[in-house]
Amino acid sequence: MNKKNTHTGKAHSSTPDDIAIEHRLPEFDFSSVSKYWLKDQFTSQFMNAVSIVVPYSERTVIDIVRKYADNISDLKLIRDMDGLIRQEGRHTLMHLRCNELLEKCGYRAIRPFERFHKFFIRVLRRISPPAWELTMPAAFEHFTSAISRDFIVNRTFWTGDQSNTAIDFTNWHALEELEHQAVCFDVFSALEKRTWLLTLSLLFVWMPAILVSVYGLQFYFLMKDGVLLKPKKWGSYLKFIFQSLPMLTRGALKYVDKGFRPWSPKDVQIYQAQKQKIQHIIS
Ligand SMILES: [Fe+2]
Ligand SMILES: [Fe+2]
Repeated sequence: MNKKNTHTGKAHSSTPDDIAIEHRLPEFDFSSVSKYWLKDQFTSQFMNAVSIVVPYSERTVIDIVRKYADNISDLKLIRDMDGLIRQEGRHTLMHLRCNELLEKCGYRAIRPFERFHKFFIRVLRRISPPAWELTMPAAFEHFTSAISRDFIVNRTFWTGDQSNTAIDFTNWHALEELEHQAVCFDVFSALEKRTWLLTLSLLFVWMPAILVSVYGLQFYFLMKDGVLLKPKKWGSYLKFIFQSLPMLTRGALKYVDKGFRPWSPKDVQIYQAQKQKIQHIIS
């Protein structure tokens, strides 16, 4: 903990009072799920690529939130942080199970990618001052909540008429990502008043990093499968990129606004409807 460079956070939790960050322990057996578990090869390999990036990123979120926990004074935010840590721990475990199955499909670049991913984050953390390190969990949660919201709202685009265990799993993860979407931003803004630093880190570090990682891995998977060796598939692939790109590229500028708070009324509606819809998975 570096208390010299951060002040004690007096900012409050912005998670609505009627939303509890719950620790749920649903079980998922992915053994009979195909690698193309969404609407088509492009949506499936995109989410498979996201899954590869998730475990070390979520561990980093947990680690940084724990590191600065003693600097937070708001009791509700402390409870939110505890909820986030528990949820992310479970998500990581489940994604590791998915990723083991993906490795068994013969994607040999997964391991080297994971090693580079860890190296990249460790180096960045080592050279980052506290304010910059605190942008990391907030930036990662910016992307996971954007992907989750899109997955929930644009079901036709992602799942089509498919239903399987991996979709149930993603619905559960998406719900919890929305549930704790404010926590890392609240921690960041409690300890660092220059919220525009988050915009800078998103635009110049994390957005390029996530675009290269996720679209790069998806491209590798699709090449390895031979999908992109067929010119007739290129149109659908480019259409997917064009349609999915705004999900990862918009929203960074909102943090320049000092009055920005996560959770719009629309977010609450989306969250409540999703919670209702997946009651059979989470109860
Ligand atoms: Fe998560
Ligand atoms: Fe998260």
